[in-house]
Amino acid sequence: MDGPREASSSVEVDDLSLSRLLNKPKLNIERQRSFDERSLSELSINVRALEGYDSIYSPAGYRSGFDTPSTARNSFEPHPMVAEAWDSLRRSLVYFRGQPVGTIAANDHGSEEILNYDQVFVRDFVPSALAFLMNGEPEIVKNFLLKTLHLQGWEKKIDRFTLGEGVMPASFKVLHDAGRKTDTLIADFGESAIGRVAPVDSGFWWIILLRAYTKSTGDLSLAETHECQKGMRLILALCLSEGFDTFPTLLCADGCSMIDRRMGIYGYPIEIQALFFMALRCALPMLKHDAEGKEFVERIVKRLHALSYHMRSYFWLDFQQLNDIYRYKTEEYSHTAVNKFNVIPDSIPDWVFDFMPTRGGYFIGNVSPARMDFRWFALGNLVAILSSLATPEQSMAIMDLIEERWEELVGEMPLKITYPAIENHEWRIVTGCDPKNTRWSYHNGGSWPVLLWLLTAACIKTGRPQIARRAIELAENRLLKDGWPEYYDGKLGRYIGKQARKFQTWSIAGYLVAKMMLEDPSHLGMVSLEEDKAMKPLIKRSNSWTC
Ligand code: GLC
Repeated sequence: MDGPREASSSVEVDDLSLSRLLNKPKLNIERQRSFDERSLSELSINVRALEGYDSIYSPAGYRSGFDTPSTARNSFEPHPMVAEAWDSLRRSLVYFRGQPVGTIAANDHGSEEILNYDQVFVRDFVPSALAFLMNGEPEIVKNFLLKTLHLQGWEKKIDRFTLGEGVMPASFKVLHDAGRKTDTLIADFGESAIGRVAPVDSGFWWIILLRAYTKSTGDLSLAETHECQKGMRLILALCLSEGFDTFPTLLCADGCSMIDRRMGIYGYPIEIQALFFMALRCALPMLKHDAEGKEFVERIVKRLHALSYHMRSYFWLDFQQLNDIYRYKTEEYSHTAVNKFNVIPDSIPDWVFDFMPTRGGYFIGNVSPARMDFRWFALGNLVAILSSLATPEQSMAIMDLIEERWEELVGEMPLKITYPAIENHEWRIVTGCDPKNTRWSYHNGGSWPVLLWLLTAACIKTGRPQIARRAIELAENRLLKDGWPEYYDGKLGRYIGKQARKFQTWSIAGYLVAKMMLEDPSHLGMVSLEEDKAMKPLIKRSNSWTC
């Protein structure tokens, strides 16, 4: 689906209609040959073709057989890990009244402390869902989307405070009463979560998954139901509401996403901004143009324009931009200011000068008055590529950076969630002395195998699958042997994480999705959006303004 074409000043309602998109000719993508047999140029042509037809629902061409991984039917020899991964993924399935509705976060019988790892997390289920969709098993994804939609309708309270109507849960659990033979659901919207953190990303992932489901199956009926339309509108109402904001980015508290503990991401974290952008673009063609939907469409179009301008101009950092910031004047008043946020050059950390290659760039972690968080965050940057929040040049530059700084960002296990780690006094202040987030561990510079699927998707989109292949090979050296850990520790990601769960479902599913996407790059369409041509002129202008 292509949002941004729609992002012209007058919204062409017809153009946006979901069913109309289905009428366009279908892509004829070769699915039989394994990816490894194709030449790179062949791949980029295919991917480009895919992107050009991004608006088309291209059903994944279902393979029959519920249990057999599709790879088994393909011409090339699957890695032995693939079958093991499917077995483990299926063992993590959660059933509600006999129907599969999700996968638990971790199936780690060795762990004494279960905490909430026995729950179905919305964000964790995304790679599982993609694996099932790619394997021609959409039912579980549909069930999940409907179950979480139902949960969204619950009244949500933390102490005496009622949360916004549209909030989607961070996670849910099915309670089986064997005696009474009943199943009941409990959900967590942050009221039980450690630190009472808000799952801002859940609603965005839900919309992104609804589009992936629709695109993969060609089944428009789910997205068109009154319930799904309302669910989308409620999520959008939360993030498009007007307030005191001076920026189009979304203001968030710490711990609002995959990094669900205090890690200094409060403000305008890149992960949320990229997911916000992607969710807006995914929602755009799925929203009906009835009285209620139309208003949202118009608000989305405006916000997309402003958001992409802001992100591409102020979050982007490359060698040139770093040099400009280094030479910034401060205390500039009025609209002619170059240093709009009054960033004091002395606040640039030393590491970034060494880290920044001549070739390459990335979206930094956060931008707000007098504050630039220069840390690299993998998820936000990869989602920026997939959603086309990054321009094609920026996408290439992000991939260049990953290549140039391979040791730092990938090391021995893909992929660092953030770089670099914070230590000593800064760690005390920023994390509140969090013993789980010590330097190079967990969210603080740990390496998360789940990110492999996002890296692979970004590699395919930018026509650089060899990078993904290299990363997957690293994962294949260790993941199965180590029991699919949640994360790895250390500067190079060599050690199984201090408190990492084993048989972490999204590590398993992330690997499968990466493998399936490399094997059949047409799957990319489920999680990727083409570039918005309508936004281009704005970027040019932004460059001349900031330089
Ligand atoms: C941890 C992670 C979070 C994940 C959850 C379940 O809290 O930080 O991102 O969703 O575990 O795996």
